[in-house]
Amino acid sequence: MAVTASTPEQTATTPDAGATGASDGYQTVPALDVHQVGISTPPQAHATLLGWNLNPGSGVEQLRRMMRLLSDDAVRLAAGSPALADTEEELARFPSRLTVTFGFSPQLMARLLPRQRRPRLAELPTFGQDRLQEQWGQSDVIAQVCADDPITLAHARRMLTKDARAFASIAWTQHGFRNARGTVPDGTTMRNLMGQVDGTVNPSPDDADFDGLVWSDQEGFAGGTFLVLRRIRMQMDRWDRVDRAGREATIGRRLRDGAPLTGFSEFDEPDFEATDRFGFPVIDPASHVARAHSTDPAERFLRRAYNYAVEDPDRSTGEDAGLLFLAYCADPARQFVPVQQRLDEQDRLNEWVHAIGSAVYAIPPAARPDGYVGDVLLE
Ligand code: HEM
Repeated sequence: MAVTASTPEQTATTPDAGATGASDGYQTVPALDVHQVGISTPPQAHATLLGWNLNPGSGVEQLRRMMRLLSDDAVRLAAGSPALADTEEELARFPSRLTVTFGFSPQLMARLLPRQRRPRLAELPTFGQDRLQEQWGQSDVIAQVCADDPITLAHARRMLTKDARAFASIAWTQHGFRNARGTVPDGTTMRNLMGQVDGTVNPSPDDADFDGLVWSDQEGFAGGTFLVLRRIRMQMDRWDRVDRAGREATIGRRLRDGAPLTGFSEFDEPDFEATDRFGFPVIDPASHVARAHSTDPAERFLRRAYNYAVEDPDRSTGEDAGLLFLAYCADPARQFVPVQQRLDEQDRLNEWVHAIGSAVYAIPPAARPDGYVGDVLLE
């Protein structure tokens, strides 16, 4: 977007009138023809996940109306324009790569859609290591709202919340963050709050098999995808007691640069067969990467995680920190579940992390021209 110098009037009346130069805040993420944005988009610095439950007794018409409004908000705000009836329109001026990605729960679709119109999506099986809390459970609708600027994000959240109010109640709001834009060079793999480089082995939109791993080809849902959301708590007070060698052995990678314990740099292939001079495996077969790694290339998925850190609700440790683990894939039962099952059975990391929230969503393809997100399912 072109940046124009502000006039004296603007300078006098707009609080950000000093913004006459170029800024990353003007950057937009263009809409895609087939897919929703916010999935293959390089992750923005901040994310807010909004979970809604439709008002009791609501039918498909209420959902249509809500999605029309919210999709319109998303398009306008992502372009750096105010939402309709935006009461704080100045806050829409810097879109900061804002994206809003919507999804529906299997339960909602079972309630509102005829069987032949529902994309196939099963709930996750139960996992023994989970300590799920109802407050972070499945909601009917999700919006993954991401932007590089927290004010932009807060404004988008407020507009969406305001427009959804007549149709649904908020089930939860979850905030996540990565590095602020400009802190690390673009393309640097994120670090999670345990200090590990997190996201190294991950399909990239440039990979030949990315489309098949991420986008669904189900009839009537082609170009959509599925989201597995897990709120995973890290027990940082207990992790504090683990020394550096123990921390690296837990993951199977070095803290300094994320290199596998058998390699020299981040993107080296781990050698799971290598042994040390005593004959022990260099990468513990119970380490996180050894357990998460799959020899079946079709078992991979896109991880688009964010850190979270909030005040500990029971104040016992002072902090509730962890990962908003977001996995996008064409078929969660085929791709995500086997990996999660392996981790559930054995993973050294389980001693310090456990899921406290879990949900799955069908993420419809992009809206039709002049349509709204979800129209392929709801019309
Ligand atoms: C790899 C951390 C949960 C799946 C990794 C790596 C780290 C990490 C540091 C190595 C670097 C990389 O390739 O990204 C964590 C933490 C978790 C967590 C701290 C929880 C708080 C999960 C979950 C899953 C998962 C729930 C899926 C069910 C994977 C996969 C890899 C990986 C597939 C790549 C394995 C490979 O090398 O092929 N994780 N992870 N992780 N993680 Fe996790």
